[in-house]
Amino acid sequence: MRIFVRILALAWHYPKHLLAAFFFLAASNGFALSIPYLLGETVDEVLVSGTGSELLEFAMLILLVYLLRGIFAYGQQYMSEWASQLVSFGLRNDLYHKLQNLSFGFHDTQQTGDLMSKATADVEAIRGFIQGGVLRATQIMVLMGGTLGVLFITNWRLALVSMSFIPFVIWRASVVNLSLRRLWLYIQTILGQLTTVLQENLTGVRVVKAFGAERFEEQKFEILAEQISESTVQSSRLQSANTASMIFFFSVVTAAILWMGGLEIVSGRLTPGELTKFIFYMGLVTAPIRMSGFIINNFSRAVSAGQRVFELLDAPSHIQENTNAQILVNPKGRVTFANVSLVYRDGKRVLSDLSFEVLPNEVIGLLGRPGSGKTSIAHLVPRFYDADSGRVTIDGIDVRDLTLTSLRQHVGIVMQDVFLFSDTIEANIAYGNLHASSEEVIRAAKVAQLHEFIDNLPEGYQTLIGERGITLSGGQRQRLAIARTLLLDPPILILDDTTSSLDAITERLLREALSKVMMGRTTFVITHRVHSVRHADQILVIEDGVIVQRGKHEDLVLQDGQYRTVYRLQLQPIEPDVEEVFRSTQDS
Ligand SMILES: Nc1ncnc2c1ncn2[C@@H]1O[C@H](COP(=O)(O)OP(=O)(O)OP(=O)(O)O)[C@@H](O)[C@H]1O
Ligand SMILES: [Mg+2]
Repeated sequence: MRIFVRILALAWHYPKHLLAAFFFLAASNGFALSIPYLLGETVDEVLVSGTGSELLEFAMLILLVYLLRGIFAYGQQYMSEWASQLVSFGLRNDLYHKLQNLSFGFHDTQQTGDLMSKATADVEAIRGFIQGGVLRATQIMVLMGGTLGVLFITNWRLALVSMSFIPFVIWRASVVNLSLRRLWLYIQTILGQLTTVLQENLTGVRVVKAFGAERFEEQKFEILAEQISESTVQSSRLQSANTASMIFFFSVVTAAILWMGGLEIVSGRLTPGELTKFIFYMGLVTAPIRMSGFIINNFSRAVSAGQRVFELLDAPSHIQENTNAQILVNPKGRVTFANVSLVYRDGKRVLSDLSFEVLPNEVIGLLGRPGSGKTSIAHLVPRFYDADSGRVTIDGIDVRDLTLTSLRQHVGIVMQDVFLFSDTIEANIAYGNLHASSEEVIRAAKVAQLHEFIDNLPEGYQTLIGERGITLSGGQRQRLAIARTLLLDPPILILDDTTSSLDAITERLLREALSKVMMGRTTFVITHRVHSVRHADQILVIEDGVIVQRGKHEDLVLQDGQYRTVYRLQLQPIEPDVEEVFRSTQDS
């Protein structure tokens, strides 16, 4: 019921359209209601009295009423479509806005396909109900109310008989509604899963092909598609059985009226014209009764869709802006972690009691094995996640006391997995910085060692990438992501494993270019490679979410520990070993 009221409230956002639709509805049904009355009058006044003189006038009047009814019915249809389109437009935008503002933590727990299905199929179900269901249900009530009123005035005994089917309709409607709601919730959930399979299959098409998993994927899809098709057929079965039983009961009532009406005419309490009215009035409500099965289906579907959509709209964002959050202005860039611990939603503790400080303009290196927690540390600075205990501060201000926009404007992060939009290279570099000039874009691309490559493309910076254009290599994507972040010119810069896909020469060029960029800003360099951090002001070695070593390169190489082990493996020349092997083969 709560969901139903909320759906109605959505429609009420557009009162003018809705009221206009209701006005047309009332008018068209008013005319519809007067038709049986006119027919009854024709029988009594013209036919039974036997004069036949006003027959033509009555026929013309009835024609006119039909015409007006048609015109208003058109208006009703048009306005209800309009109102429902406005509702779905508003709802989709609300959902999209909500999705933009939900935190990383929320997205960790959601399947993209399911979210897509909510924004499309579920919104459409709600729209269909507003357009069809809400108005049609009102129409039924208006018609039934009008019909019963006229019938009671004409002959209350017969009116009581004709009312006898109403409790039956209500009982059937509530029983069927319950089963249908369960069914629709199931169908919509499976539809979400189907969309997820489709979305993952399309984005992961290369993996699917590489592993020859086409058949496996098809089966996954087929099973879900079959469940949807079976359940939808089941819902139709319920709907048809419901309609059929209602029509049957209704026919029984009509037959009873015919029989009792006959007796009433014989006893002189009813005229033939009045019986004609009765029969035609019953005919008038037949169509809506026939529709009621459809409306109940429509209603059940909309309510279960509403449940899914409102769940998303009401989802709390774990990263909330403080009510009196302050705007970060020109930070110097002192970043401090004080006893920071982080537990992800699955309950896993990934960072424990980390404390360190990076002074303005310093470079800090984070080195550690895959999964040690480096990215997790970085994600706490722009508040993609919040620490469970301890504080992360910028210039001494807790990041939780800053507005999200101003915080993220000042913290530039080049992420480990690069995402590019289906747009031009220039638009991708300028993403998030709409005011950037072409010169600025080129300058950023030059620092990122990507300018030469772009310049050699036939369409240069206007080359499209993604589905409609060229595909970039892993290293090119990484450099594009660097250019994108550099363009923001952030005082705090985080480079998360940004050189992992580069060859030795490009990497050196990039490192040299970046070392110039790092001047005048606080930089986090996250890496597996010692030479990326050997000039850093301080290096933290992370293992299982704790700092196991810290210091400068010169100190760390002297200590026994992970840093020295990695250093030896990566930086000490390996040629002597090769020579040794060669010599030993010669000897033997
Ligand atoms: N969003 C998340 N939800 C739950 N667990 C996560 C999430 N992100 C990372 N983890 C877990 O936290 C641990 C640390 O991950 P993190 O990404 O910080 O490692 P990393 O040091 O950056 O590794 P790599 O060098 O491979 O990038 C891992 O065990 C990972 O499985
Ligand atoms: Mg990482």
